[in-house]
Amino acid sequence: MSKKRIAVLTGAGVSAESGLGTYRDNGGLWDNYDPMEVASIEGWYRNRSKVLDFYNMQREHLRNARPNDAHRAIAALEKDYIVDVITQNVDNLHERAGSTHVVHLHGEATKVRPENTFNDEDGYSEKAVFDVGYDAVHLGDKAPNGVQLRPHIVFFGEAVPKMEEAINLVSRADIVLIVGTSLSVYPAAGLYRYARQEAPIYIIDPAEVPLFDSRIVHIRKVATEGMKDFAGML
Ligand code: APR
Repeated sequence: MSKKRIAVLTGAGVSAESGLGTYRDNGGLWDNYDPMEVASIEGWYRNRSKVLDFYNMQREHLRNARPNDAHRAIAALEKDYIVDVITQNVDNLHERAGSTHVVHLHGEATKVRPENTFNDEDGYSEKAVFDVGYDAVHLGDKAPNGVQLRPHIVFFGEAVPKMEEAINLVSRADIVLIVGTSLSVYPAAGLYRYARQEAPIYIIDPAEVPLFDSRIVHIRKVATEGMKDFAGML
């Protein structure tokens, strides 16, 4: 019998217990930084150094962060299921916990690319993207094509190139699991709506969830605890 498929949609909450900040919780990143200045395409053209410094800080935090039991529990699902992790997170903790198929809808903090690449044709895809690990990138750091390096992040105001792939994965899933996202940034926030009618949807989040769909089971706990409950429901 072929393995069932689980689509796991994660947000910043799954990495909260690894010490990485969320965005919209009290004290979250957007309480201290204006996303339009540090995470938007207009912000990039207005002040590249400010954006580079924001992601240098994120990379430095990531250097010292470790996957938590929720990342590990998600990776462990691969023993019995085909698991597609579709994350809004730009950290690499799912991969470091052992997940083997991770789709980063909003890009990856450890990766950079020339600033003149925006789509598959001109090199946006993995051809022009490379991994700097946790090192800083500064104004004047150029790609092999001589163009200024930019974070391989989907800035506010930019398209989400992996959305079609994500929709395909969710629409094929037998089970949908959502962990640690406020579901406030589209199009990612609307992904769960592509789940098949017969696919149960589990949400792990300690906060109230603004969804009204009979298929949803809300496990109102933090990710590391909620993943234990979820495993028991499979
Ligand atoms: N375990 C599980 N969930 C948690 C935990 C935890 N320990 N701590 C917080 N949460 C939940 C919060 O209740 C909230 O619902 O995680 C969610 C975090 O929401 P946001 O901070 O909005 O993060 P996210 O949903 O990932 O943001 C989406 O917005 O700014 C953009 O690109 C950015 O990818 C990000 C996107």
